[in-house]
Amino acid sequence: MLYEQINEALKYIRTQTGFAPQTGIVLGTGLGGLVEEIETAASIDYKNIPHFPVSTVQSHAGKLIFGKLNGASIVAMSGRFHFYEGYSMQQVTFPVRVMKALGIERIIISNAAGSTGEGIDAGDLVFIKDHINLMPENPLRGKNDERLGVRFPDMLHTYDKAMIERAANFAKAKKIRAHTGVYVGLPGPNLETPAEYRFLNKIGGDVVGMSTVPEVLVAKHAGLKIFVVSVVSNKCFPIESITETTMEEVIEVVTKAGQKVVEVVKYLLGPSPAAI
Ligand code: HPA
Repeated sequence: MLYEQINEALKYIRTQTGFAPQTGIVLGTGLGGLVEEIETAASIDYKNIPHFPVSTVQSHAGKLIFGKLNGASIVAMSGRFHFYEGYSMQQVTFPVRVMKALGIERIIISNAAGSTGEGIDAGDLVFIKDHINLMPENPLRGKNDERLGVRFPDMLHTYDKAMIERAANFAKAKKIRAHTGVYVGLPGPNLETPAEYRFLNKIGGDVVGMSTVPEVLVAKHAGLKIFVVSVVSNKCFPIESITETTMEEVIEVVTKAGQKVVEVVKYLLGPSPAAI
């Protein structure tokens, strides 16, 4: 069923473009600015793609964009789907399956997140080295289709170490404030209570957000190389740092920091580490 749906989506996309992307990019809340840097070869509205969910969040555009970015062939999701919007985990992660079917070998995922790690401030970048899944559903639950991946994916080497290292070196050279850290995925849509933020710090969480983990699980299942960058929109630890946070503020902070993400992603897509 899922396999057939992926192929129907793929078939439609192939009537629109023959572009062959190697890297998939998921743009998080407030991070749509990267789209302007793409030399676009084709752009397809989600609403035209069979079985694609349609985005309900205003800040997300809802297009699959094919093109070149810093010389690399990419497909970018401008607009992503969140569990809190009411989609099933299969819907949230369907685009990742389709991008895999389009031929991508690696995926770069961005998101906005609150920080619960020590010394991580609003506007900082965090390159994700691991995650803790506190979401109540799993996109891999149900009958496993071996054509898509194994029943029990191992999660030891989920986040690509070489890409994290490259990103960290680049950030250092460019004096971009960046950390490596652990992402905790929660369902949302509410933000966390002070006690919850403290708990997340205690269990080893550096950033917390409402996305990414489902996509990472499916990307790992599909055998993709994975890189995730969080932009900290609100500092949530220690407790005295917590302020009331609105989605408007999250978008404002992340949009301001967005150019740093664009630079890091472009660098990762570029030809050689010597180019810093
Ligand atoms: N919690 C959960 N998700 C978020 C946060 C947060 O504090 N900030 C941005 N996304």
